[in-house]
Amino acid sequence: MRPRDTYAEPYRIKMIEPIKLKKPEERERLIKEAHYNIFNLKAEDIYIDLLTDSGTSAMSANQWAGIMLGDESYAGSKNFYNLQAAIKDIFGYNFVVPTHQGRAAENILMSMFVGENQRVPGNMHFDTTEGHIRLRNARPLNLVVDEGLKTDSTNLFKGNIDLERLEEELKNNGPSRLPLVIITATCNNNGGQPVSMSNLRAAYELTRKYKRALFIDAARYAENCYFIKQRDPAYRNTSIRDIAREMFSYADGCTMSSKKDALVNIGGFLAFKDNNEWYEKAVQMQICYEGFRTYGGLAGRDLEALARGLYEGTEEDYLEDRIGQVNYLGQQLRDTGIPIVTPVGGHGVFVDAMSFLPHIPQHCFPGQSLTVELYREGGIRSVELGACAFGYIDPETGQEVFPAQELVRLTIPRRVYSDRHMDLVVRAFEAIAARKKKIRGLEIVYQAEILRHFTARFRPRD
Ligand code: F0G
Repeated sequence: MRPRDTYAEPYRIKMIEPIKLKKPEERERLIKEAHYNIFNLKAEDIYIDLLTDSGTSAMSANQWAGIMLGDESYAGSKNFYNLQAAIKDIFGYNFVVPTHQGRAAENILMSMFVGENQRVPGNMHFDTTEGHIRLRNARPLNLVVDEGLKTDSTNLFKGNIDLERLEEELKNNGPSRLPLVIITATCNNNGGQPVSMSNLRAAYELTRKYKRALFIDAARYAENCYFIKQRDPAYRNTSIRDIAREMFSYADGCTMSSKKDALVNIGGFLAFKDNNEWYEKAVQMQICYEGFRTYGGLAGRDLEALARGLYEGTEEDYLEDRIGQVNYLGQQLRDTGIPIVTPVGGHGVFVDAMSFLPHIPQHCFPGQSLTVELYREGGIRSVELGACAFGYIDPETGQEVFPAQELVRLTIPRRVYSDRHMDLVVRAFEAIAARKKKIRGLEIVYQAEILRHFTARFRPRD
């Protein structure tokens, strides 16, 4: 990767969306009215929104032009065929099932493969993937390598699956107990960490040996390809498109949330390499839950923007700038002494809230407290991935169980903010660091039974 100050964004701006920083006293009132939960804030009250990189990308002139070419026919829209051709070209997959987003593709895949009491190993499933597995009374297994859970590790492929544990699972459980394996690349939940080509190849060989299916969760596949090119000398001179082709040759198919690396605001798909039987089965479900085979819950114009976005998402100068910006923020925060997950991942910087605010015990939600401070300080929205998002009350003991990591994710939308916005985020952290001993923890005053972080209400602790 070239140093950040030797190149600029590989695009110029022709449409802008104004954003405003509310006054400090207004921010104080707004976060209180939001019950100290950033999900309750109105987007217009936020200055820099780092809640997610999902569906928040800026589309290109080429994609907007494609929107005008939407063929809204119920069946056989030409935009579907353009999408099919793009997926064949980039992923090498023949059978395409469009869906309204990634989780809808997961729903179809899980309906096809997963039933009661089964086990579904992966490196680390995303929340909705895990949800679809649990909804079917099956068990998600997160077999990411040990290094993947060490915040300050220097391992370059922290998204890899532990092959020994995977083989153990495959050996001990027949196909009726363990039907499929899912590899998420990059791995969102531990920091946007990549999976290496050799790890994927070996995982695929294992699933061949034991005759199981392997699917890739491809939401951030292009960022994974870029990391392979940067970090594995064997791929230094291979194009991103060739890396993608090889990656997807080591799977039977993929689920995709197009809201990430395909640079669109909505959409997803399920794709199969060559299994027509699976495809036919998936189409049955698609027609019931999503829409006809050639639109799957999307407008023709959405399909066109997606087909074009898939190509743009694999362009090397775009990826260099994208990953470069995330790295720029990460390096600056590190230089300021803020504890972050290393190496910096693909779609955001993950701050270790427990080491940043060591005086706040985990049951007082240090991660959530940090999200509140970021809004107070700079009108910045981040998201907690710690005690609130992943903690739960054990039904047997009635005790709170907390996750091993207490992270705050600063997720960077694609092609949306400049490095000057990133500088302001760093500045906000500096100000918070200077007064951090005064920051208090929070307590929950309302929580839902599942996925409590979306709707929980808090109050500051005394
Ligand atoms: N897989 C991964 C790895 C994801 O990160 C997401 C969504 C999904 C699947 C589901 O896709 O939202 O299109 O239904 N991640 C978002 C996030 C919500 O903020 O990380 P979807």
